[in-house]
Amino acid sequence: MLEDLAHIGRDPATGGYLRDAWSAADMELREWFWGEARRRGLDVREDRNGNLWAWWGDPSRRPGVVTGSHLDSVRQGGAFDGPLGVVSAFAALDLLRERGFEPSTPLGVACFTDEEGARFGVPCLGSRLLTGVLDPARALALTDDAGESLAEVLRRRGRTPEGLGVDPVTLAHVGSYVELHVEQGRGLVDLDAPVGVASAIWPHGRWRFDFHGQANHAGTTRLEDRDDPMLAYAAKVLAAREAAVRHGIVATFGKVRVSPNNANAVPGLVSAWLDARGAGEEAVRALVAELAEGADVREESWTPIVEFEPLLRDRIAEAAAQTPGSGAVPVLATGAGHDAGILAGAGVPSAMLFVRNPTGISHSPAEHAEADDCAAGVRALANVLEELCR
Ligand code: GLV
Ligand code: MN
Ligand code: MN
Repeated sequence: MLEDLAHIGRDPATGGYLRDAWSAADMELREWFWGEARRRGLDVREDRNGNLWAWWGDPSRRPGVVTGSHLDSVRQGGAFDGPLGVVSAFAALDLLRERGFEPSTPLGVACFTDEEGARFGVPCLGSRLLTGVLDPARALALTDDAGESLAEVLRRRGRTPEGLGVDPVTLAHVGSYVELHVEQGRGLVDLDAPVGVASAIWPHGRWRFDFHGQANHAGTTRLEDRDDPMLAYAAKVLAAREAAVRHGIVATFGKVRVSPNNANAVPGLVSAWLDARGAGEEAVRALVAELAEGADVREESWTPIVEFEPLLRDRIAEAAAQTPGSGAVPVLATGAGHDAGILAGAGVPSAMLFVRNPTGISHSPAEHAEADDCAAGVRALANVLEELCR
């Protein structure tokens, strides 16, 4: 299945993926999901927020156990962040059928829309809308780099923007959610383990900083006459790094937009996005407050700490450890955001399995997982689903 997806949205120059939500690549990935679901005789549907659900069994009669992830990517992302969870969900379902397992609880495969927030800036858009933590009016007004709003994009894709928002009926189908994901750091490599279980997701957020100045000629304007916002931006980048070290957290300006973006002009405006995360909310908030002093800042998203339910976490670690080849199953916290965290925050018992990433690199074409580790992940996920659906 990963091979089937390998060409979709791939930049041949870099090997990285460009799978923005609702792009042509995303539409192709959605088609693929429908095809895989139908081929397995699953009942597939798209909810009012664009999330896809494929059911084995009827969740309107009894809430189900759901597994899955997302198919969109960051710009120039890797092949595994998202797709590994969706592919493993279908593969685990196949394995359960091969084993002759008959779930007494409905089993669902989910694909959440726009997990990365690459296009409209807010991550986990699909699960935030589903659970009601994001106001649909705010979501619809978000714009992409071309200035097109989410409402316009949805309409062009034949969707009904007016339908967006909290969806208690769909949410009630989700009795619990287990997301398998490629690990995005070096936790499992360093512990020499192919599969792990999540304990928590760090609190994290994104903030837009606007630095205003006066656009002017780069050659003729005297240094003392310049109002150059690039200088304030550069100082803020260094300040973020210094503050992150001091607070024991991480912080990055990973996206910047310069206007007018001429090599031979002092810019008039620099907009830059800060991503800050850490084990404790207070430290993250303190860093942002320091950087925001005297600056033009807007919070674009915030996700509080997620501590996965210990009982479910332990049950999952135990089921995963029954898998040949998985060895000991470490329990790790992560700095990466996931739809599982949004669902957990909305009261859905949720958990995550991680698959080792040999380099620890993610959000880059260098992201990787070995085939044997992916297979160990699928076996662990199948055991977990068997345990939860019996
Ligand atoms: C999602 O991958 C995120 O944590 O940014
Ligand atoms: Mn990601
Ligand atoms: Mn992901």
